[in-house]
Amino acid sequence: MSVPEMRLRIRALEEEIARHDEAYHTHDAPVISDADYDALRRELDALYAAHPEAQVADSAHQRVGAKAADGFQKIRHSVRMLSLSNVFDEEDVRAFLERIDHFLGRADSAAPLVFTAEPKIDGLSFSARYEKGALVYVATRGDGEVGEDVTANMCTIADFPRHLRGDQVPEILEVRGEVYMRKDDFLALNKARAASGDAQFANPRNAAAGSLRQLDPAITATRALSYFAYGVGDVRGASIRTQRELVQLLDACGLITNPRMQSVHGAEAMCEYTRALEAERGDLSYDIDGVVYKIDDLALQARLGFVGRAPRFAVAHKFAAEQAETTLLAIDIQVGRTGTLTPVARLSPVNVGGVMVQNATLHNEDEILRKDIRVGDHVIVQRAGDVIPQIVRVDSGKRKPDTVLYDFPQHCPVCGSVAVREEGEAARRCTGGLSCRAQMVQRLKHLVSRSALDIDGLGDKQLESLFDDGIIAAPADIFTLAARDADGLTRLKHREGYGEKSVTNLFAAIENARRVGLRKLIYALGIRHIGEENAKLLAQHFMRWESFHDACVRLAQGDETVRAELEAMDGIGPKIIHSLKECFAHDTQRQMIEALVRVLEVQAENPPQTGGVFAGKTVVFTGTLHHISRAEAKARAEAAGAKVASSVSAKTSLVIAGEDAGSKLSKARALGVETMDEAAFIAQLGEAVHA
Ligand code: IVH
Repeated sequence: MSVPEMRLRIRALEEEIARHDEAYHTHDAPVISDADYDALRRELDALYAAHPEAQVADSAHQRVGAKAADGFQKIRHSVRMLSLSNVFDEEDVRAFLERIDHFLGRADSAAPLVFTAEPKIDGLSFSARYEKGALVYVATRGDGEVGEDVTANMCTIADFPRHLRGDQVPEILEVRGEVYMRKDDFLALNKARAASGDAQFANPRNAAAGSLRQLDPAITATRALSYFAYGVGDVRGASIRTQRELVQLLDACGLITNPRMQSVHGAEAMCEYTRALEAERGDLSYDIDGVVYKIDDLALQARLGFVGRAPRFAVAHKFAAEQAETTLLAIDIQVGRTGTLTPVARLSPVNVGGVMVQNATLHNEDEILRKDIRVGDHVIVQRAGDVIPQIVRVDSGKRKPDTVLYDFPQHCPVCGSVAVREEGEAARRCTGGLSCRAQMVQRLKHLVSRSALDIDGLGDKQLESLFDDGIIAAPADIFTLAARDADGLTRLKHREGYGEKSVTNLFAAIENARRVGLRKLIYALGIRHIGEENAKLLAQHFMRWESFHDACVRLAQGDETVRAELEAMDGIGPKIIHSLKECFAHDTQRQMIEALVRVLEVQAENPPQTGGVFAGKTVVFTGTLHHISRAEAKARAEAAGAKVASSVSAKTSLVIAGEDAGSKLSKARALGVETMDEAAFIAQLGEAVHA
């Protein structure tokens, strides 16, 4: 092929690939098969390998996927991205090891298991998928199930590979790791921002997050980001047996791994590693907030599995919080979504472990009394990872004689309504309800927040001003904004903080949010005690908005059947039931919710995964199991779709009877419930279980 022919072919390939990328990523409508698409890319890659000088700007060779039409594209992780549970001292580490031994049914005398120990990087996690060595996408963690596509941004990191290197490249490799900003890069960035009058980042972690989540990769490219790869999600076509081999593989593929990872065994050695690293913490070029221990043997990792959102096989050993002393300038009261009055300490700015702190939470009135915190006091402030800074204690030796005991307000500082404390509650709450500006505005903020309806473009300041001007007085008003604007009634683009483009983007984001899943909606309503976890439970139970709404209305009317139905749900307690009842018994509140739902398209909850050999079965274990611990048996049965119960009733589908099974087995037989012995159970699980 002549040089002009080669250039022509490259141009044709670039254009064709760009068309397919757009069809696939932006319109979700691919027009050719994956194999045909791969062939085009391979041909292009081969041409560039032979003629690197021919590469065009914004080549498909570097680019992965097309830019989302609006905001970031969402990516569903093929393997969930989880968090870690924490331990704080040697006793906790021992307990962690004992839990593992117990779960695996290991004898006390068995040799300690081998773990890897490595720094816990204070950044944000990413998942990068490679197929046949080529980068497919990079996603943020998001809610653990769905993250955001930050491929273009991640590709601005110079040592982040778009193609894996070496001769051990697996068929599919989903790399997990942490993006962070080095301390010196963070300081330089803040210095430059101060010079140009931009807001400062509070710490390297926020700077890294703010830089990676930029809609314009050109901005990310100006920020110095770094990363470490430390694990995998989906991996196919690799024969690795241990965590160490896995990290070696990542390294061999050209990814950056942390050289400080070591093998350790036994609580003492694990804690020794952590103590040594903590002593070096200030000298490291990046922020860390602890150590992560992981079981080295991947087969054991798989057996241990997960509990809730964290693995059983790994844990984070957190360093002690960093502390500093400063002066308490004032105590302000903030009013939350459900009326809770939260005291906030305003401090003379102080550097706590590299971060400037000027506010701290004081929790509630008892806390202020218990610690006898007074305005003007010298106080010890601490910061631990993501936790909001707190006041640990007062340096009473330095107290001035003119300080006075803090008098907690008995009225809402925003609307003036009486603030009351219910029996057994620590919080004092404003009784103004939705007539309190603070409560209403906080509700609206919650509704549009990232974990709720996720409407970009309605910041705190804008919401407050739209509320004060009567343009958004209730949740449903958000969804009629565009129509009212078209009528010339709101003219958003003339308001401070908005322009033509940002208004268009906002309206697009609102349209996008109109279709909402049931669990997001229940969470977004901001009902007291109903966080994401409870919203999920309620959505999974009721499946459709109409059923949930009907149940809540009946509950509010005192219907005992509905109350009993809720009480029977795992994880739903009296506080939640009370709160649902209160919310729907309140006419204005109920009507506000109904008005919101009328302008939304609520998607029914998807039925839970029904895969697994025990799907849909209620299983009871009884008697002694010899080849698997009770804890592992239960976890494995649940992973295979079972609901595990403790007593036998007519609802039981299966009883798994170990040795010396007693009354439960007899009861099962009497009720005609299916039974199975340990060997049959293990055979059903379909995998070998080690003693
Ligand atoms: S392993 C199943 N290793 O810490 C989760 N995580 O608090 C396995 N992190 O979400 C995570 N450094 O973002 C692991 N060396 C490290 C880490 C690390 C930082 C983050 C990660 C995770 C969070 C949990």
